[in-house]
Amino acid sequence: MSAGMVMLLLIQIPLFTFISPSSGRGNFLQNFNIGWGDGRGKIQNNGQLLSLSLDRNSGSGFQSKDQYLYGKLDMQLKLVPGNSAGTVTSYYLSGDGTKHDEIDYEFLGNVTGEPYTIHTNIYTGGKGGREQQFRLWFDPTADFHTYSVLWNPHHIILSVDGIPIRDFKNLEAHGVDFPKKQPMRLYSSIWNADDWATQGGLVKTDWTRAPFVAMYKNFKADACVWSPKTGSARCDSPQRSSDRGEEWLRREWDGSSEKKLRWVHKNHMIYNYCNDRTRFPQPPVECTFS
Ligand SMILES: *[C@@H]1O[C@H](CO)[C@@H](O)[C@H](O)[C@H]1NC(C)=O
Repeated sequence: MSAGMVMLLLIQIPLFTFISPSSGRGNFLQNFNIGWGDGRGKIQNNGQLLSLSLDRNSGSGFQSKDQYLYGKLDMQLKLVPGNSAGTVTSYYLSGDGTKHDEIDYEFLGNVTGEPYTIHTNIYTGGKGGREQQFRLWFDPTADFHTYSVLWNPHHIILSVDGIPIRDFKNLEAHGVDFPKKQPMRLYSSIWNADDWATQGGLVKTDWTRAPFVAMYKNFKADACVWSPKTGSARCDSPQRSSDRGEEWLRREWDGSSEKKLRWVHKNHMIYNYCNDRTRFPQPPVECTFS
């Protein structure tokens, strides 16, 4: 055995042990159930890839097995390419019941060559109405991109490829509800919404292009997982080295995040409920803090 080979072996062993514990967290078979769609949702490649499809008869959807109470959840999505007008792919966290909390991404399809709209909303205690919409700075159908939700006691931050697009701060001290009591499950689905989604419902779904397929991979959760038995959540992140710990759980907003958010809002935001004086002659309280 040459010295070079020994070196190679020594390098490979620690890499392998570092990577192997995390692979479980990214596995769709372990983390999700295909909730509906009669076979239109598929977990493939031993759990490394998930696809959802929509045709004239039905859409499809999946949901996490776990419920979370705080977490940093990352997922890579590749949206329906080509003429996706009329289709909506939603990716969201939600609790149950009429007073539920919810954190939403919705991707509204478009005709070939025209941009998707990313619609976001945040519900607290059953009340939403906090819509913000964006255009992306890349084509979300050409490749996988990471869509994240960071939900901790201080913030809900939505980010795309690590760039924050939305920050909902905990302003309980100012009378604004913040989701922190109800666990939420992660859901995603694809469905037909051609009565409203594309250019206000003017553009209909072209069923000759069906099935419409969205793809998912590399799910990663650093989260507090709810136990219905104990009625409490346990926070751990087995794939993290201990020095990083639950950094996400304490993370606060900083100057660099603020700068990136401003860039997104200036260049890529197309609707903000905070600025809609027709709906809100008095801006909602949380809007007066940004
Ligand atoms: C689709 O493209 C048109 C034209 O660029 C644009 O007005 C519209 O907002 C886009 N998005 C949706 C979801 O309709």
